[in-house]
Amino acid sequence: MSTWQEIENKCLSCKSCRLCEKRKNVVFGVGNRQAKVMFIGEGPGEQEDIQGEPFVGKAGQLLDKMLYAVDLDRHKNVYITNIVKCRPPMNRDPQEDEQESCIGYLREQTRLIRPRIIVTLGRIAGMKLIKPDLRITREHGTIIERKGVFMMPMLHPAALLRNQSQMEGAFNDFLILREKIKEVCPEVYGL
Ligand code: URA
Repeated sequence: MSTWQEIENKCLSCKSCRLCEKRKNVVFGVGNRQAKVMFIGEGPGEQEDIQGEPFVGKAGQLLDKMLYAVDLDRHKNVYITNIVKCRPPMNRDPQEDEQESCIGYLREQTRLIRPRIIVTLGRIAGMKLIKPDLRITREHGTIIERKGVFMMPMLHPAALLRNQSQMEGAFNDFLILREKIKEVCPEVYGL
């Protein structure tokens, strides 16, 4: 059983896959380590690689706005991380072997946080963590339960920036999330 410090140290010096070669920073995660709600994206982009924090580029700013709209905050009541902790070159999808090399860190983070709700952001994270045949455009906003943890795929904020017609549906997912939080972990809202 490793501690946060041990896992983070190991991750920050990780050389388990080729993504270590070009990274500026390992992007481990941000937020409350006691959060009841965890958000998981696919992998760092350019800004995240530079700053060492997940979702700090344009997509991240949109994510922050949507969180704010339902009284969530990356520094207060959620934890945010990615499937892979190093930036894939040219922002390509992380490959299966890269995901496999990295997923142990996410498992350890999840074990320590013990969230009640896990939100996946985008197709890659949804397929990896919820089901391999996930159809994200059709199934975003639906919730399944696995071993007492509620799992919800959402559209990726970067995809929303490219296709604004999906914005309303994406916002609706956050309203569904808010209701689920009120139901299973109302303490998040001080209820
Ligand atoms: N996209 C992701 O999936 N994760 C980030 O941290 C940034 C952009």
